[in-house]
Amino acid sequence: GFRIGTAVAGGGHHLEQDYPDPFTSDRRYRRTLARQFDSVSPENQMKWEYIHPERDEYDFAMADRIVGFAGRHGQAVRGHTLLWHSQNPEWLEEGDFTDTELRSILRDHITTVVGRYRGRIQQWDVANEIFDSEGELRTEENIWLRELGPGVIADAFRWAHRADPHAELYLNDYGVESANAKSDAYYELSRELLADGVPLHGFSAQAHLSLDYPFPGGLEENLRRFDELGLGTAITEIDVRMTLPESGEPTEEQLDTQADYYRQALSACLDVEGCDSFTIWGFTDKYSWVPVFFEGQGAATVMTEDFTRKKSFFAVYDTL
Ligand code: XIL
Repeated sequence: GFRIGTAVAGGGHHLEQDYPDPFTSDRRYRRTLARQFDSVSPENQMKWEYIHPERDEYDFAMADRIVGFAGRHGQAVRGHTLLWHSQNPEWLEEGDFTDTELRSILRDHITTVVGRYRGRIQQWDVANEIFDSEGELRTEENIWLRELGPGVIADAFRWAHRADPHAELYLNDYGVESANAKSDAYYELSRELLADGVPLHGFSAQAHLSLDYPFPGGLEENLRRFDELGLGTAITEIDVRMTLPESGEPTEEQLDTQADYYRQALSACLDVEGCDSFTIWGFTDKYSWVPVFFEGQGAATVMTEDFTRKKSFFAVYDTL
């Protein structure tokens, strides 16, 4: 039942100017996606700004295609994401709504989107990146937390559960691979939500890693403490970026170390009973978000731009 997943590139995102949507335009991309992975996560196509561009308008076209593709290829889908501070549409962020209106906007969105894919999405990242690195809720940046208070987190899980009782509902974040202030905050929140009977089913670490930092220590132990609360766990967005030399090409040593990071992350997950999936945030460097978001960095995925399998690919393969 263990799944190796990938983000599906596209959807009004960082590549918009340079590429047409890879899922639509690149046959090789689609073929590799179908053959090599057991699970897919829309990289952007289910985010608010994409799927809910106007208050009274949803755009399900790409999300439908991804879910359909996954169905035809026997793949699971991880839905991403319902409550987040980023990639929200302007009508929402700039709108002038009462608290009552905002609550019903969120409830309707969750009910509509989760309900549409009922039975076809295995896990939903219900709440994404709600804590900062100090372990404080992002009450300034996150419109929902700012306007509606922390209680909205439990509500979002309840609404999602009602819309699809079989979907597993997750808390998801980066920088929570080790035990630290942020992951401690998730641990406390998880305990509270579970004690209150909120339908929370999992905690996942994105794992956007970098060779500029040591491999996050204690990943396995950290996942295990959530496992012991009875939660599922997962690695949901792994990539391992690096500062590229002048040539733009990673060195052999960098590629070796990168492979080792992938291997260590996968082993940690495999060693935790309820850690059931390992999702790479894009499988080819050709479409990776990394060079656009982290200046001078790249080569973060498991295949080169021409889809050649890197040492990291084989590290994952051999660790399974
Ligand atoms: C990134 C996408 O990869 C980009 O295409 C987009 O422009 C910005 O968002 N954490 C998350 C993901 O939860 O949704 C982010 O994806 C990467 C960090």
